[in-house]
Amino acid sequence: MKRVVVLTGAGISAESGLKTFRDSDGLWEGYNIEDVATPEAWARNPELVQQFYNERRKSVLEAQPNAAHYALAKLVQKYEVTIITQNIDDLHERAGSANVVHLHGVITRSQSSLKANLTYPIDGWELKMGDTCELGSQLRAHVVWFGEAVPMIEKAASICLEAGIFILVGTSLAVYPAAGLINYVPSGVTKYIIDPNIPTVSNNRIVEMPYKASIGVPMLVDELLAIS
Ligand code: APR
Repeated sequence: MKRVVVLTGAGISAESGLKTFRDSDGLWEGYNIEDVATPEAWARNPELVQQFYNERRKSVLEAQPNAAHYALAKLVQKYEVTIITQNIDDLHERAGSANVVHLHGVITRSQSSLKANLTYPIDGWELKMGDTCELGSQLRAHVVWFGEAVPMIEKAASICLEAGIFILVGTSLAVYPAAGLINYVPSGVTKYIIDPNIPTVSNNRIVEMPYKASIGVPMLVDELLAIS
């Protein structure tokens, strides 16, 4: 069975009402990244960081998967599918995709501020100061902050090496190491790019699909499922 590897970014969740990063003039929902998404921010003002991710978590819980998330979940009818996402929302999972690798973590889980791989589900939208892990340290959102390691990157790169078909959806490829994953896809493999503003890539066998995700992804999935 051919292996389809999908790399998604904020653009696939844009039509679910979750803002992308680069279209919002450098602010993330009105906050400077360095005030809410770095280890220094956490050391300086953990309450603000906690509040920021509580607000993001509330929006994620209120958002619904869109046609693009649901279409990708259908690919398993014919292919072995792995979704590698830069997104911290859980919309792929809620649309029915089972094999999802979260490069930058997932906001619906918390993590110990002592041991990054000690994570817990969060019920509801709020993580409070005073909520601690089993080691007694303050719980934080299970997301990768700027300047932190991306523990899943090696696993993601080895998945890309095995791709038989590669699909890139809704990412500006502005942030590494995620942006470098396309270079692990074998050169003979077709790489579909779905984005209203196709990012510049130097790879070959590129098929550009300049559409919004909710249009382009179902279109491509129907094509891939129709191949006999
Ligand atoms: N459908 C498809 N693509 C879209 C849509 C849409 N409806 N709307 C916007 N896009 C595209 C934009 O054209 C852009 O190429 O989605 C991409 C969003 O790019 P970014 O905002 O840079 O988001 P992303 O690539 O996911 O950022 C990567 O940067 O800030 C960090 O950790 C954060 O995971 C994030 C990483």
